[in-house]
Amino acid sequence: GGGIVIAIDGPSGSGKSSTSKGVARARNLRYLDTGAMYRALTWWMLENGVDVSDASAVAAAVERPTIEMGTDPAAPTVAVDGRDVAAEIRGKEVTGSVSAVSAVPEARELLVRIQREIIARARAESAGIVVEGRDITTVVAPDAPVKLFLTASAEARAQRRSKEVRTSDVAATQAALLRRDRLDSSRAHSPLTRTEDAVELDTTGLSLDEVVELVVGLADEAV
Ligand code: C5P
Repeated sequence: GGGIVIAIDGPSGSGKSSTSKGVARARNLRYLDTGAMYRALTWWMLENGVDVSDASAVAAAVERPTIEMGTDPAAPTVAVDGRDVAAEIRGKEVTGSVSAVSAVPEARELLVRIQREIIARARAESAGIVVEGRDITTVVAPDAPVKLFLTASAEARAQRRSKEVRTSDVAATQAALLRRDRLDSSRAHSPLTRTEDAVELDTTGLSLDEVVELVVGLADEAV
């Protein structure tokens, strides 16, 4: 068996999540938000008093929580030790700490292993899956038949993110977003980078529907 794997990377606010969910719904595929997994692990670290600036403390604790992802694009879920943490992982504390946790190799190894299992399960069920993150095209699923790198101007990304978190302080949102991108792009392990064979799509002037349509077109060509 085996359904299609669509790998989507890009910086914060580039439209990855909305696009990935839209494409998965349009073509009846599963959906995996790997950023939510790094956020869930970070939430557990903060909740349990682990100093996230201490890489060895993070490394020692990564196996303790159980992270479970629901892959229905109409209602994706994320649970830590059975608790739904969908709201908590979008808070400022987690957002401010997630880049420190995601830079720890042991955290990445663990989550990449789970991500590959989820992809393998979807393919075994011939379901196909859209996977979004920072290292999907490079590390998690480099052999995916559709690989995309989404970008957008810093201003557009800050505008979108501000709407999502319902703040009028676009300048502060942009500063936080650029800081996280800098950390995610400069880390030693699996930094955010565009590979040669990923299609780069600048979503700055495009509506969500337009982007989804473009990606669905690429996916239809690949099968
Ligand atoms: O996609 P989202 O912004 O929710 O991701 C949160 C954080 O998780 C990113 O800023 C990055 O530090 C980390 N991440 C990662 N690798 C992925 C997905 C997310 O390092 N594949």
